[in-house]
Amino acid sequence: MIKPADRTLEVKYAIRDILKYANEAKEAGLKLLYLNIGDPMIFDYQTPRHMIEACYKAMLDNHTGYANSSGVQEARDAVDREVRRKGIKNYHDLFITSGVSECIELCLSALADPGDEILLPSPGYPLYTAVLAKLGAKHVPYYLDEENDWEPDIDDIRRKITPKTRALCLINPNNPTGSRYSKECLEEIVKLSLEHDLLIFADEIYDKLVLDGPESISIASLSDEAPIISMNGLSKTYLVPGFRIAWATVTGNKSILTDYIEAVNKFLRARLCAVTPLQYAVQPALEGPQDHLEDMKAKLRRRRDITYERLNAMPHVSCVRPTAAFYAFPRLHIDEPDMGFVCNMIRETGVVVVPGDGFGQKEGTRHLRIVFLPQEEVLEEAFSRMEEYITKHLGKAVAT
Ligand SMILES: Cc1ncc(COP(=O)(O)O)c(C=O)c1O
Repeated sequence: MIKPADRTLEVKYAIRDILKYANEAKEAGLKLLYLNIGDPMIFDYQTPRHMIEACYKAMLDNHTGYANSSGVQEARDAVDREVRRKGIKNYHDLFITSGVSECIELCLSALADPGDEILLPSPGYPLYTAVLAKLGAKHVPYYLDEENDWEPDIDDIRRKITPKTRALCLINPNNPTGSRYSKECLEEIVKLSLEHDLLIFADEIYDKLVLDGPESISIASLSDEAPIISMNGLSKTYLVPGFRIAWATVTGNKSILTDYIEAVNKFLRARLCAVTPLQYAVQPALEGPQDHLEDMKAKLRRRRDITYERLNAMPHVSCVRPTAAFYAFPRLHIDEPDMGFVCNMIRETGVVVVPGDGFGQKEGTRHLRIVFLPQEEVLEEAFSRMEEYITKHLGKAVAT
């Protein structure tokens, strides 16, 4: 028997782990409706053609060797102009990575030693927890407040800072709640970072998918002093999750960042580079036609409205209105843990959603994460099956 490392025990990724139950349902003959994976390309969205043509041309032009570890110059220049448009100035480093996923792994690995504490949003994106488990660092959840449109609970963050706290991760706009944070909230987080020397990881991968209300603010545009890694990428807003192309900038007080930046660069060099020809999609994406974004947001607004209305019309369910990205995180007012609820629901209805437990949630609460990327008729069918399932097993009446 080859014994796997103990560090694998804590690695979970509910979004894909749930597929085991989906496959059982499929084998039993059910037609599955997938509301679990945040990949637009499974649905009716199309990669902008000019991005594909740019990569094809790059390959024909023989840009098929290793690239600079920080990225192809043309891509880095385009990211430089992009981050300036967002108000991020005076960064000390900029690099291209294989998705925000690689960036998270690499930047956390360059920071956290075993026993160090990192504040992660709860609910939040599970990759952060998995990476910290691998590093032996401690994941300390801070709560997003469902009563306040899922904004970070600043008092809770303050209570959880200890001398071992090294960093705070912020996902704005958020997966899994679909919320976008206010300027006041981001300013409070900057203050905490400055008071406690916390590095901020700002995952802003959904920032161009704001469906209504004010645009999303990059936290690094609010401070020249706070140490911030701002991460973004092509996967979601430019409809190429399979390209695996993202980037990050490092901003803040340079005198405290120099050693850390060198540590990140050691990892960047050791892994050679992000995929070379696909980096040639960055400039045409960021500076070419943006029509696909308006089309995508128009579809998402309609799909968000259906999701929000249908969920809130179900007994035992309530849902905060998502304002960005393509996720809803409805609350289940039930006694059964959400994991069991979801497994049984998938088996009986074929509707695949992810239990809130996979993202973290307040003790005693139960949620689901729903991806509202699918076409309207798929969503309507999925919500009808869900409503029927809930009514059958839990009754129409809502406990008061
Ligand atoms: C908050 C968040 N960060 C990062 C990622 C991964 O992004 P990438 O495809 O750039 O690795 C996702 C994917 O769902 C995400 O939701």
